[in-house]
Amino acid sequence: MNDAPREQWASRMGFVLAAVGSAVGLGNMWRFPYFAAENGGAAFVFLYLLMVALVGLPIMLAEFAIGRGSKKSPIQALEYFGGPAWKPLGVLFVLGGFLILSYYAVVAGWTLRYAWQAVVAGFGGDLGAFFGQAASGPDAVGWHIAFMLVTVTIVAGGIRGGIERSAVILMPLLFFIVVGLAIFAATLPGAGAGYAFYLKMDFSAILSFRVLTEATSQAFFSLSLGMGAMLTYSSYLSRDDNMPRESVIIAGSDFLIAFLAGLMVFPLIFALGLAGDVSEDQIGALFIALPGAFGEMGAVGRPVGILFFFALLVGALTSAISLLEVVVSAIIDNWSWPRRRAALVMGVLITLAGIPSALNTNVLGVVDQIAGNLILAVGALSLAIFVGWVMPDPIGEVRKGAEGVRWLPVWRAFLRYAVPPLLTVILYFSVRSTIGMIRGLFGG
Ligand code: PHE
Repeated sequence: MNDAPREQWASRMGFVLAAVGSAVGLGNMWRFPYFAAENGGAAFVFLYLLMVALVGLPIMLAEFAIGRGSKKSPIQALEYFGGPAWKPLGVLFVLGGFLILSYYAVVAGWTLRYAWQAVVAGFGGDLGAFFGQAASGPDAVGWHIAFMLVTVTIVAGGIRGGIERSAVILMPLLFFIVVGLAIFAATLPGAGAGYAFYLKMDFSAILSFRVLTEATSQAFFSLSLGMGAMLTYSSYLSRDDNMPRESVIIAGSDFLIAFLAGLMVFPLIFALGLAGDVSEDQIGALFIALPGAFGEMGAVGRPVGILFFFALLVGALTSAISLLEVVVSAIIDNWSWPRRRAALVMGVLITLAGIPSALNTNVLGVVDQIAGNLILAVGALSLAIFVGWVMPDPIGEVRKGAEGVRWLPVWRAFLRYAVPPLLTVILYFSVRSTIGMIRGLFGG
């Protein structure tokens, strides 16, 4: 066992900003806008919000109850409240963090490369070819390594000195940039067409299980749920804060940034008549169409491009930090390693595991589907059952610091009776599309 006293956040604000930092990332500013545009526009946004309220918030509160209640990293926390039979779920969380970070850092590496390009030269020429070069092969591997180096350095710095400090500085900055760019985008001539593309209402999507599944997976991914990230962060809480209120703040900020990202991205693209690029290749869409817009905009294109990729990078970094922290905290607690060694060794292993994704975007897509969709859905379903049926007194735990909140019994009943059947249906569709995708990869 590790004898050092458990680290703690310095302030409530620090915890909230770090949790928002975990939630806000590539999922918001890159995945959400084009998911919405492709899956029914306003209908998707509506279903997404519904799923955030129905399953996202209850699961986030469930993770907080386990984390703060046990003050332990995932594997030991689940054992603490549920006995050794629940340890494998903790192992799945750690594996999830490991796998998600392996490809997340690859896309973050592209972002780093683009941010660099925005600063040193700006965008121009054949951006499809530029993306092809940046997104696979040696370039992608190199920038992936560079991004992981930054992530490891911050996590090695500890909860207060590394994670909290970076979140407190970076998250307000990100927020102002996104709001500023969304306002700027609203002044562009193509704004109306951009909003229409983003939010046109497709009523049939509301009744589609496929869209519902997409919205649910996106909610878990965007809120960092189902793999113990929020559990781990809340395990460093010292005081008994009002966790229901904090989960609403975190989920609200996460949605706000995702929604604003759409309001900034599509007007930019439509103002410059590059909409055709968006629909071509999902993964690359924004990395081709947006720089195209920055390149065409003349003098303002340069600063706008720098700000956009900087914000994207900040979001990716604070999320990657939380992914690595899940793995590192488990290693510290289970093997008694010092934090620095855990961060370094795990960082190297995750970097290596990401190399296939850096070399081939199809591999990246499959790992995303398995870890980013499937593991999170399995994890969230198990968490609902765990806190609903197994954990001794989750309501009592959440009530500390939230004495006035009346609906906690409703929350628990929800975790017991509503969330599991709903997520079982979602999981069924998710497994089906995973199998389809793996078949596709092998050309079957
Ligand atoms: N929420 C992050 C994003 O939206 C990704 C993430 C998923 C982070 C799971 C931690 C855990 O980009």
